[in-house]
Amino acid sequence: MSPEEKALLEKKQVAEKPAIKRGFLPPLPKVDPKDNVIFKSIIRHKLDQSPRNRTLAIVGNVFLHLHPPTINRDAVRYNYTWGMGGMTFWLFIILTITGVWLMFYFHPDKQNAYNDIMYLANEVPFGKILRNMHRWAAHLMVIFVWLHMMRVFMTGSYKPPREFNWCVGVILMKFTLLLSFTGYLLPDDQLGMWAVTVGTNMARATPVVGHEGPLGPQIGANAFNDVRFALLGGSIVDASALLRAYIWHCIGIPIVLSIFLIVHFWRVRKDGNISGPAPFKLKTDIEKEKPKQTMVKLVHQPNAEVQEV
Ligand code: HEM
Repeated sequence: MSPEEKALLEKKQVAEKPAIKRGFLPPLPKVDPKDNVIFKSIIRHKLDQSPRNRTLAIVGNVFLHLHPPTINRDAVRYNYTWGMGGMTFWLFIILTITGVWLMFYFHPDKQNAYNDIMYLANEVPFGKILRNMHRWAAHLMVIFVWLHMMRVFMTGSYKPPREFNWCVGVILMKFTLLLSFTGYLLPDDQLGMWAVTVGTNMARATPVVGHEGPLGPQIGANAFNDVRFALLGGSIVDASALLRAYIWHCIGIPIVLSIFLIVHFWRVRKDGNISGPAPFKLKTDIEKEKPKQTMVKLVHQPNAEVQEV
């Protein structure tokens, strides 16, 4: 081997030597970010788009499993539901978030309530937006819950097997109105004060539990032990009424409403998902399905023949 050939061979051997033996760091092994124990403990299915994996992705995830793995395409057409139930739900979420935020600025007592709201609206950065987001979302939720109820009625979706869910819906609607009503008093302004005075005055005429309602006086109800007294924490709209409205508005009613919402959504799934438009057939399909009929004409003759027409 000539010296030139020897040098060439040596060069080739060096080049072919693994990098680590030449004193360099080894190249990092290729790591799949999805191939680690944390990722696998959260996402427990493969990531390909096969129908099985898509189903597993939905049923294995606490948020996604609210949606069914398969749906009736016609039932989720926008002009069937108008998205009213979903919008009502999102308004409830907006109300919860803005409501918790408002709580940071609000003291439910006669000395502070009104001033807190004025301070929030006029001094706190973005305070007016925050207050108005809460107020407008509340108005819209009341409107949308009625529209949703109207849609359910118009499409006949209250019929079996959905009659129980209709009743759950009626409870949800009542609690939506109660949320709106209790929130009205909280700014402690004239509007809220008189609205609650009128509203709770109606309560005293409730049958049995109101002291001016049918059967109320007979069972011993009076102005100091009836349902109005329980709502106001007294016989007039004052500090106790404000505190009670605050607790019902921020804790009691939202908890009860959330529980019924869970039942409502669960029932939508169990009743076969959103009802969908009534199945209809094209005239041509009906024609095709009709059994072929043969008309016979009887000719009045002895030994009458049967003719097909
Ligand atoms: C807080 C209030 C409510 C919320 C957030 C809510 C939410 C929903 C949602 C998201 C759906 C799925 C279909 C859709 O979006 O239209 C639904 C279905 C339904 N809701 Fe409500 N809902 C509420 C109140 C009501 C009320 C007041 C009623 C009736 C009295 C009602 C009765 C029903 C029924 C029967 C279904 C099944 C409809 C079907 O299968 O087509 N819901 N609701």
